[in-house]
Amino acid sequence: MLYSIARKFLFKLDAEQAHDVAIKMFKSSAAPALKGLYGSKVGSKPVNVMGIDFPNPVGLAAGLDKNGECIRGFSALGFGFVEVGTVTPRPQPGNDKPRIFRLPQAQAIINRMGFNNHGVDYLVEQVRKARQAGFNGVLGINIGKNKDTAEENAKDDYIHCMHKVYEFADYITVNISSPNTPGLRALQYGDALNELLAALKVTQSQLSEKHGKYIPLAVKIAPDLSAEEVKGIAQCLVNNKIDAVIATNTTLSRDGVEQLPHGDEMGGLSGVPVREKSLEVIKLLAEELAGKMPIIGVGGINSAAAAREKLAAGASLVQVYTGFIYEGPDLIKRIVDGLD
Ligand SMILES: Cc1cc2nc3c(=O)[nH]c(=O)nc-3n(C[C@H](O)[C@H](O)[C@H](O)COP(=O)(O)O)c2cc1C
Repeated sequence: MLYSIARKFLFKLDAEQAHDVAIKMFKSSAAPALKGLYGSKVGSKPVNVMGIDFPNPVGLAAGLDKNGECIRGFSALGFGFVEVGTVTPRPQPGNDKPRIFRLPQAQAIINRMGFNNHGVDYLVEQVRKARQAGFNGVLGINIGKNKDTAEENAKDDYIHCMHKVYEFADYITVNISSPNTPGLRALQYGDALNELLAALKVTQSQLSEKHGKYIPLAVKIAPDLSAEEVKGIAQCLVNNKIDAVIATNTTLSRDGVEQLPHGDEMGGLSGVPVREKSLEVIKLLAEELAGKMPIIGVGGINSAAAAREKLAAGASLVQVYTGFIYEGPDLIKRIVDGLD
């Protein structure tokens, strides 16, 4: 009810302005008030994944809180976990505006943000503040590379971010699937993937010794992969003892939206049009992984049924982004209530 009013106002604004207004609101809103309105109504459905206890399996996907400025606010809505980022070593402005477009007829979004963020030091400061202010929920920190870092040095950016975020994260997501950073998706294949993951595992083991705690690594992949490619990635993740896989990021496909206003904008498409694609990837992963590694399902979840579909296909946790924009915070309760 509350959100349907807010949404009317927000959807009158350009998509990025609406995003900025919402982030400002969440930054300034008192977390206890949001908890009273939303979070306290979300039931408890505890689940242990990657050795972490989650109060429920529904998380906020990366990209909405890129700088970790609203962790307490989003958590108070009742999410079982919040993933912040993608963050890069140095601050960067992202692509030129406009760079985010709503496609309401398809309950979709196209974005080409390009990892606009204030840099990893700023994010770590926000996380530190949130923890000091009492945040004790599950936090994922999603890391990437700067646009102007040469592709052959991408590994260094991920290692840099891992060092910075390690002691503040419950799990770390390695984002190699955004379509808006040139060359990033090439890290999903063959030797490039193997070398990256091997280096990150060495870093994880060093940091685990240094901090006396093991922080799991999740790898986030694209929906635009052939069955063979998904299988190759799954094997590589297992060989490198990665802790989880997140499927999926946004798609480059425009199936079903070509004719819609903004349907031809460049960038990654999310929401209902990516639901089936990410489901197919999850099914392939589940088959290939055979329980060796948990899957976090994301893509087009806008109802309890869509979440159940991902869980039935083999996911242990789910995340939402676009569905949350269209449906609002009530979606979390609806999904959690709708799980068996
Ligand atoms: C505006 C926007 C920005 C995003 N930024 C990121 C990001 O920085 N890092 C990331 O891993 N995924 C990012 N995503 C992808 C989402 O986390 C999610 O994987 C994808 O949108 C599919 O889920 P959905 O259909 O529920 O939105 C972004 C998505 C949107 C719509």
